[in-house]
Amino acid sequence: MPVTIICGGQFGDEGKGKIVSYLAQNTKIDAFARAGTGPNAGHTVVVDGKTYKLQLVPSGFFNEESVSYIGAGMLINPDIFLKEVEVTSLEGRIFVDRHTGVIEQDHIDRDRGSQHLREVVGSTGTGCGPANEDRAKRVLKLAKDIPELSKYICNVSDEVNDIIDRGGTVIIEGSQATFLSLLHGTYPFVTSKDVTASTFAADIGVGPTRIDEVIVVLKAYVTRVGTGPLEGELEPEEIKKRGWQEYGTVTGRLRRAAPFDFELARKAVRLNGATSIALTKIDLLYPELEGVQEVSKVPPAAMEFIQKIEDTCGVPVKYISTGPNAKDMIVR
Ligand code: GTP
Ligand code: IMP
Ligand code: MG
Repeated sequence: MPVTIICGGQFGDEGKGKIVSYLAQNTKIDAFARAGTGPNAGHTVVVDGKTYKLQLVPSGFFNEESVSYIGAGMLINPDIFLKEVEVTSLEGRIFVDRHTGVIEQDHIDRDRGSQHLREVVGSTGTGCGPANEDRAKRVLKLAKDIPELSKYICNVSDEVNDIIDRGGTVIIEGSQATFLSLLHGTYPFVTSKDVTASTFAADIGVGPTRIDEVIVVLKAYVTRVGTGPLEGELEPEEIKKRGWQEYGTVTGRLRRAAPFDFELARKAVRLNGATSIALTKIDLLYPELEGVQEVSKVPPAAMEFIQKIEDTCGVPVKYISTGPNAKDMIVR
């Protein structure tokens, strides 16, 4: 799978970071490239007993043979970026596209100060919406304009296309998710750009004919932070009873939750042109699967659930995640 896009198939927080971290420790990867909106994302990586919460840096950072990139389509907050480079020891092997957009304090103030964004949209308050507004107006600063970023600047599209030309392996890590897409999601309760696989390719500057695999990540139940519709939404007491309570990585908000939505999954597979599915948090539905790595240990009821997903979506569930650790995975 030389060039693979990882994308979210629900409302975010499906565990894209976890899937990328699994691939990072089990596959030879030349480049990890982050796509999506910007630091509104929070990807959790648990590796060697250590937990990382990453808003900007790719989740495969610990693969020392690889180079990490942030695509032109992304928005970067330089303070968050520089802190993450330090925490992940990525200095010298992470680069930012010269055209990546820059979030400044004014964007954060406008995001948090806008009643519409805060209360109607339920934004993360990280300045992404106002920064993309300024990008559309063509007044946004780009990464190449910021002296503190000068040593990280490159042309990500050129570098990633060169790696592909040499037969290298690239993972494009998207953030947010299909139904938070400005175009295809539950407008107006969405993020400030499209966040499906096609745009993730464009965020990096890789054409659609160069993509080999698209993995849609689906959680075994559905969560949503912020506002907007959620089919089958459960009461907070019921969420706790089922052990499904989660808190936002970026905002700390309690995530809303609902049982798995097969029709939503089918639509996500279509909108992203998925070639396979990665299913996460199966251990929350079947506790006996916690940390399991062998497909032979999957109980019949869980297999039926997986089969129903495949029948509805028409693509294989290739990865089954059984815990937060990078190694907790069944591959079929
Ligand atoms: P966004 O880009 O913000 O949408 O994030 P994300 O898709 O990377 O997901 P995020 O890390 O925010 O949330 C997923 C949560 O589930 C994290 O706390 C992970 O550590 C955890 N997680 C991921 N996969 C599994 C799994 O298979 N089992 C369990 N128990 N936890 C998991
Ligand atoms: P914004 O992208 O910060 O403007 O937020 C718009 C909507 O998308 C809000 O409902 C957020 O909660 C949601 N959102 C944005 N990024 C993420 C993410 O990475 N995970 C989950 N929800 C997100
Ligand atoms: Mg998240």
